[in-house]
Amino acid sequence: MAQQKRAQFATRLGVVAVTVGSAVGLGNIWRFPYEAGAHGGAAFILLNLLFAFVIGVPVMCAEFIIGRHTGADVRSAFRKLSRGKLWGCVGYIGIGASILILSFYSVVAGWTMEYIYRSIAGFGAAHTAEALHMQFDAFATSNVRPVMWTLIFLACNYFVLARGVEKGIERVSNVLMPMLFAILVVFCIHSLFLPGAREGLLFLFKPDFSQITPRVVLSAMGQAFFSLSLGLGCLITYSSYFSRETPLMKTAMLTASLDSLVAILAGVIIFPAVFTYGQAPAAGPKLVFEVLPAIFSDMPFGQMWSLLFFLLLFIASLTSTVSMSEISIAWFCDDLGMKRRTATALNIGLAMVLGTLCALSFGSLNDMRVFGLTLFDLFDYVSSNLLLPVGGMLISIFAGWFLDRKVVRGELAPSSAGGRALMRTIVFCMRYVAPVCILAVFLAGLGVF
Ligand code: PHE
Repeated sequence: MAQQKRAQFATRLGVVAVTVGSAVGLGNIWRFPYEAGAHGGAAFILLNLLFAFVIGVPVMCAEFIIGRHTGADVRSAFRKLSRGKLWGCVGYIGIGASILILSFYSVVAGWTMEYIYRSIAGFGAAHTAEALHMQFDAFATSNVRPVMWTLIFLACNYFVLARGVEKGIERVSNVLMPMLFAILVVFCIHSLFLPGAREGLLFLFKPDFSQITPRVVLSAMGQAFFSLSLGLGCLITYSSYFSRETPLMKTAMLTASLDSLVAILAGVIIFPAVFTYGQAPAAGPKLVFEVLPAIFSDMPFGQMWSLLFFLLLFIASLTSTVSMSEISIAWFCDDLGMKRRTATALNIGLAMVLGTLCALSFGSLNDMRVFGLTLFDLFDYVSSNLLLPVGGMLISIFAGWFLDRKVVRGELAPSSAGGRALMRTIVFCMRYVAPVCILAVFLAGLGVF
């Protein structure tokens, strides 16, 4: 059977590490703080957490069930499980979304590489908000370096991916994810002693519900999907490498909890500093890249901390982009019969073209707008706020309504009374709560109501 030939993650820790490795990345440390900053802070964060557990965990379980049961890539998984051609489209949505995300994500990962370089070269970090802002702007709007780093980052992806699932992805994740976590805790403690700590923490934890609009709700949902790597079949692909012993519900709960924790830690690092150094919480995608250097420049051994941080952020991005690419690579190999190296080259090549355009959209292509958005923002908006929620809704409808109940129960395999209650709740959310909420938020956010 084809299933037996597929690679598998070697250990239980490996399964959690790669799933968390996919989830934790720029989504938590770069995207979460700037989205929270742009949408008023605490109220956005509360909504985001609610979505992560009420919709995210059930959709993640749905992806795990489909992936492990079929042991196949996204396209083939849906084809195996449904006769109708229509469900196969979910696979295409996922593959499309993964390439869009890979393109703009690589630009930001490229920025982290620039900052690794700067930490080594010992750039005297500017102190004032204005100077930091100008420093970052000068870099991001230039034409050569951002493109160069985007391409180098994608080349790194090629090397990890071409080595295959277990050797490449699992080993990297096992060691580096715990390290990233540890260093975030150190920075949190530092931020808590900054003069702006109180204001930063109030912004993060004291909700002002008047800030909530349909658009904020849609963004909070998009952020939950993005951060948990949901809705595009990434976790269908990864769980096709899970062994029978992997407990799916536990893995989903643990992933959602750790992912949310990392995002909150990032918030606790960033916002006290935002208020200390007089920056604007709503500065958008550049927020983290302007705030962090200010923190490092004030720390003893700042250059070393800066190097360590950006290095780990780079690795965290790599474990996420590798999981995105795996969606199309698994499809190209399993379904279209390509060799792994050819499939990887095709995926990365496409991302290099689109990634270059995204990198230039801060500089010379800044005037090229679609619906008023630059290519970078467009790719981000379309994937996170449209494709991922729609993909997630279809996946949960499929697992909740079309998949044989026995398969769902067999895969979730609760072993205790508590486990059975959790399973019932998850299945209920999969069938009713997730599809209805996603549709409502989606239509409201797009201004249909
Ligand atoms: N979850 C990743 C992050 O937070 C991004 C990602 C999105 C990865 C979609 C895979 C699929 O950085």
